[in-house]
Amino acid sequence: MRIYEAKDYKDMSRKAANIISAQVIMKPDCTLGLATGSTPIGTYEQLVDWYNKGDIDFSEIHTANLDEYRGIERTNEQSYYYFMNHHLFSKVNIDKNNTNIPDGMNPDAIAEGKRYEEVIRSLGGVDLQLLGMGHNGHIGFNEPGTEFAKETHCVDLAESTIEANKRFFASIDEVPRQAYTMGIRTIMQAKKILILVSGEEKADIVAKAFFGPITPEVPASILQMHNDVILVADAAALSKVSK
Ligand code: F6R
Repeated sequence: MRIYEAKDYKDMSRKAANIISAQVIMKPDCTLGLATGSTPIGTYEQLVDWYNKGDIDFSEIHTANLDEYRGIERTNEQSYYYFMNHHLFSKVNIDKNNTNIPDGMNPDAIAEGKRYEEVIRSLGGVDLQLLGMGHNGHIGFNEPGTEFAKETHCVDLAESTIEANKRFFASIDEVPRQAYTMGIRTIMQAKKILILVSGEEKADIVAKAFFGPITPEVPASILQMHNDVILVADAAALSKVSK
């Protein structure tokens, strides 16, 4: 695992955008695995800025997002579909037909998992998977205790995740209780992984996930087994890692 320490959130976002844009330049028709949440917003802003300056071209790119809440419409401002359009897709020259997000409105969880895995396979797999990490070490919506062998599936969100995500909803009762997520196995099949972490409140989990034992209790710890992972974290997030 390569670790790049960034000064702060802005620097982390710029470094991450640099890595993504290098990937796009090296392989203009690559498949990017994308994430939502607050961590990658600055990265998307930087990519949009470079796109506006003519420095990056998304016309041949395909994307596959990590996850989507179950049971909320794409038009709902809290859906990850809405998030991706708002922060990236509507602001760059990506072909919307080439973007993929699990269908939160598919009532058949087994069928949706299979469909999404097939989408990823048909794209030749994910070239570069962008990840954030939850306070409990989750990646995608793979909560502590999830089997490492799972592919895309439906999950019940942990209470701590519901609590962490309530800031985006009018009340905690509106936070969906389930989501579709790529499984750990799906994530581990990406050729390259870029994980971003920012802020002191994630310093403990950074130390556990990347320097502690590999265990399903800390889902991100499995990334230690991937042969091409880049962690870009700011100084605050790395503050509990001994140097
Ligand atoms: C988002 C996702 C989640 C987030 C994680 C961190 O698509 O899969 O695993 O990356 O919950 O969220 P933030 O960045 O809001 O701290």
